[in-house]
Amino acid sequence: MNHKTLKIGLLGAGRIGKVHGNHVARFIPEAELVAVADVDEAAARDLAKKCRVEKVTTDNTQVLRDPEVEAVLICTSTDTHAALIEEAAAAGKHIFCEKPISHDLESIDRALMAVARAGVTLQIGFNRRFDANFRRIRRAVETGEIAEPRLLHITSRDPGPPPIEYIQRSGGIFLDMTIHDFDMARYLMGCEVEEVFAYGAVKVDPAIGEAGDLDTALIVLKFANGAIGTIDNCRQAVYGYDQRVELLGSNGAISAENNYPNTATISDGLTVHRDLPLNFFMERYTESFRVELESFVQAVLHGRAPEVTGLDGRMAVVVGMAARKSVDEGRPVRIDEIG
Ligand SMILES: NC(=O)c1ccc[n+]([C@@H]2O[C@H](COP(=O)([O-])OP(=O)(O)OC[C@H]3O[C@@H](n4cnc5c(N)ncnc54)[C@H](O)[C@@H]3O)[C@@H](O)[C@H]2O)c1
Repeated sequence: MNHKTLKIGLLGAGRIGKVHGNHVARFIPEAELVAVADVDEAAARDLAKKCRVEKVTTDNTQVLRDPEVEAVLICTSTDTHAALIEEAAAAGKHIFCEKPISHDLESIDRALMAVARAGVTLQIGFNRRFDANFRRIRRAVETGEIAEPRLLHITSRDPGPPPIEYIQRSGGIFLDMTIHDFDMARYLMGCEVEEVFAYGAVKVDPAIGEAGDLDTALIVLKFANGAIGTIDNCRQAVYGYDQRVELLGSNGAISAENNYPNTATISDGLTVHRDLPLNFFMERYTESFRVELESFVQAVLHGRAPEVTGLDGRMAVVVGMAARKSVDEGRPVRIDEIG
């Protein structure tokens, strides 16, 4: 594609759809938001108005059949992603799809086959790969700055749990929340996870347990390069969103701390303290959401491979399934047991 502006249609104008729609409309000059669809007409109209988009519909197919639309952003609920990817690919549209692609591997594989058949670009919404802190860690591994990676620690705690209705449809903590950390682990280490041993608990809200899910987890990962890692998750950290990483290599360590709204410290007669970290993903990862879309747009316009592929989307789900199996069966689970 050699013209300068990518015409984009957005499907799903909810929490994350608003973030992406705003970014395309205001901050990505090489892209133009030309259509918005949501089954909730008010949500679609509201976003379209804010982004000055004329084409608004409750019917995704109208956007997918629109010859003006060259690419779509799939920001609808997870249970609709795989079918929409298939439909978009068949219509020849390039696709950015939010995580996860689906909760089941058969649908994921059908969607990825449709993408391959159509030869369109598919990028999955693992935005943390575009965060400046984590990119710097990846660079330290890639360039050999800390030499051979040995140990990876990912701390990933939410400020508070989502509503129980969300938990019930989320696919469970590993496919909803830890999925970002599984992708981060593969990305930072630059190799595949081979085995997972997970412990899970319900410590935040018994209703989460009654819904068959966990709210607290510790996961040990064995990587193909022989390194080991941990992921520490909790649905509630009273001090806010806790997103830290440390990677130890044979020639040193690299770590990233939380991001804060300011750098001020207050010293009084009792303590030295500061404000809490940025509260949740909307604030903490704002910039990464913009950069990931910019990357998608550039990939399509210049015919480059996307920085996060459909296979990356699939692998994070596979590792998540292995983690759940590990909790259920109380044993380490090899990734090749899942598929
Ligand atoms: N990358 C991230 O950090 C991140 C953050 C939040 C959400 N997400 C993902 O984004 C997706 C949406 O999450 P959300 O929090 O924005 O949810 P949400 O419920 O706020 O928004 C979803 C929107 O999609 C609409 N919708 C549902 N089914 C539809 C359909 N078939 N056609 C058109 N519109 C439809 C709903 O009416 C709603 O407006 C989920 O898959 C979630 O996992 C990713």
